[in-house]
Amino acid sequence: MDWGLKNRMSRIIRPATGRTVMLAVDHGYFLGPTSRLEEPRKTIEPLLSFADSLMLTRGVLRTSVDADTSTPMVLRVSGATSVIGPSLADEGITTPVKEALRLNVAAIALSIFVGTEHEHQTLMSLANLVSEGEEYGMPVLAVTAVGKELEKRDARFLSLCCRIAAELGAHLVKTYYCENFETVVRGCPVPLVIAGGPKLETELDALQLTHDAIQRGAIGVDMGRNIWQSDHPVAMIRAIRHIVHENGTPRQALELFNTLKGS
Ligand code: R5P
Repeated sequence: MDWGLKNRMSRIIRPATGRTVMLAVDHGYFLGPTSRLEEPRKTIEPLLSFADSLMLTRGVLRTSVDADTSTPMVLRVSGATSVIGPSLADEGITTPVKEALRLNVAAIALSIFVGTEHEHQTLMSLANLVSEGEEYGMPVLAVTAVGKELEKRDARFLSLCCRIAAELGAHLVKTYYCENFETVVRGCPVPLVIAGGPKLETELDALQLTHDAIQRGAIGVDMGRNIWQSDHPVAMIRAIRHIVHENGTPRQALELFNTLKGS
């Protein structure tokens, strides 16, 4: 791995722990003004210093994050579909690598839609981005998207998606936690982070999910709704950090959450 690419990876994955808490705020690219992300700046600002990186689109980066931040950015470069359109899987590349370089981001991210009629186009986008990204030392994060079909989140399907992403050269893969998650990790030779998915019933559920994923080999989270849709987002991201970076248990993290939410 070239120095520039290694350096960018080390901005995403904390060298001290080998783990990462990425904060996903890219949801508007297909969902519009999602609940509690209606005004991105208001959601992002209190959380920014607690995130190891922020995952977002160029529009939200330019409008809603000040350029003097030291938090690394992971730029979503795929999209151009909407939740009311014919197919969420029909994504294209919306932002060129040159723009990512201009924005000085730490990595670029795209979704792949394995098993859909748009599998080939999204996988070719991944392969092409890796080739172009490697020229400039820009890591690529592949997101194994399931669209609206959340029931697809099982080990057999996710193992297939993650392995294909790694084979095509992704430097980091984002997937979902599932039963037998360790088999997904085993079959994927690059680091894996998990998305949180839709808001779970309680904070403890999201802390447990994070803990289980880390225990079974994920190197961190790229989490959105289970953080900023909490009534206490700062307490929540700090509790998640406790698990990811300090090996806290879900109960210890919940105690921390309960202490912090009052302050
Ligand atoms: C979905 O494709 C987006 O990339 C989100 O960033 C991702 O789903 C993570 O957010 P959440 O934890 O809310 O699922």
